[in-house]
Amino acid sequence: MTSVVISGTGLYQPPHIITNAELVESFNGYVAKFNAEHAAEIEAGTVQALSPSSVEFIEKASGIKQRYVMEKEGILDINRMYPRLQERSDDQLSLMAEIAVEAAKKALVAANKKAEDIDAVICSASNMQRAYPAMAVEIQSALGAGGFAFDMNVACSAATFALEMAINAVRAGTAKCVLVVNPEITSGHQEWKDRDCHFIFGDVAMATIVERADTATSDNQWEVLGTQLATQFSNNIRNNFGYLNRSEDSDPKARDKTFRQEGRKVFKEVVPMVATHIERQLQGLQIPATDVRRFWLHQANLAMNQLAIKRLVDKEPTQDLAPLILDEFANTSSAGSIIAFHRHNADLKAGDLGVICSFGAGYSVGSVVLKKR
Ligand SMILES: CC(C)(COP(=O)(O)OP(=O)(O)OC[C@H]1O[C@@H](n2cnc3c(N)ncnc32)[C@H](O)[C@@H]1OP(=O)(O)O)[C@@H](O)C(=O)NCCC(=O)NCCS
Repeated sequence: MTSVVISGTGLYQPPHIITNAELVESFNGYVAKFNAEHAAEIEAGTVQALSPSSVEFIEKASGIKQRYVMEKEGILDINRMYPRLQERSDDQLSLMAEIAVEAAKKALVAANKKAEDIDAVICSASNMQRAYPAMAVEIQSALGAGGFAFDMNVACSAATFALEMAINAVRAGTAKCVLVVNPEITSGHQEWKDRDCHFIFGDVAMATIVERADTATSDNQWEVLGTQLATQFSNNIRNNFGYLNRSEDSDPKARDKTFRQEGRKVFKEVVPMVATHIERQLQGLQIPATDVRRFWLHQANLAMNQLAIKRLVDKEPTQDLAPLILDEFANTSSAGSIIAFHRHNADLKAGDLGVICSFGAGYSVGSVVLKKR
């Protein structure tokens, strides 16, 4: 079978940071305003008063300290509480394609490849900016890449599911060098007015080059030993925004048209899924979990990752074993595990083993086992 490698990654980092303190100050301003405006109904018991958020809760419950966003003022404006983005004409590069292209250019440099070496582009993310044409085709064109391009969405697992598609395409010979991009403008579907989740997400774009080992010339190559995907339906992470909303005469700004979750249930149900998933894959490859030098896990919650690692290797998780980028980036949906890989693989040496694993809505879990060349 054709040997396949990940030969480069690139990160696009949005221009603005929102710290927890800034976020909580704005959220609590919104809460005070809402409660004052609805004082009579709250008193009469017909409207429930909103509770304030706190920096301490956010850091303790999630491990998140800040997030990057494409636009900050609109999010922090208590009369708006979502980003203020400018609509672009059909002739301009769309925002989602723009950040994907930025990440892709860096990944190409890292992989020592040119855009014309790319013969497939997969844009995989939790949301696409439009229905069609596919974002990936616009990205392919903006870069000057060849071959074919398509979009896919598996929410937080979108990156690993796309990696498997890319790896399979190279193995099957339908592509030689695939660009996978994960542009995540999560601020657009985050519910900034909901105390339970207003702190969760951040914006980013990641890009990864997957190619035949015999064409790779980068000085940092990771051989793919195996991939494994799994899904199991759950409503515990859901967003009902969609193209039938208009026909259903539903309110496009209703609460169910942005991200919502049952965080506790997600935590309890997904951790065992992840640990078992990785364990089975490693067993199939005859690799003891304790032989894995590094786990690059999805970045949703600090305690979730710690628990998954404890179950897998039965020892205290460290930054060296399972690095966190969540404190700086928050949950960047599909991009999180790939940012962790991007930021924390250079120190490993030839022969070292690593696992990228992402998990989230669906439920979905995807893992890729790698060996440094
Ligand atoms: C979201 C998450 C951080 C919440 O942490 P948690 O410990 O489960 O917190 P809970 O929602 O149970 O809330 C605990 C308490 O804090 C309160 N609380 C919730 N949000 C708060 C906030 N922003 N500030 C202060 N208090 C808050 C709750 O009201 C609750 O109070 P109670 O005990 O009096 O009822 C956590 O559940 C999580 O990360 N889950 C997994 C999420 C995930 O992976 N999602 C995937 C998305 S792709």
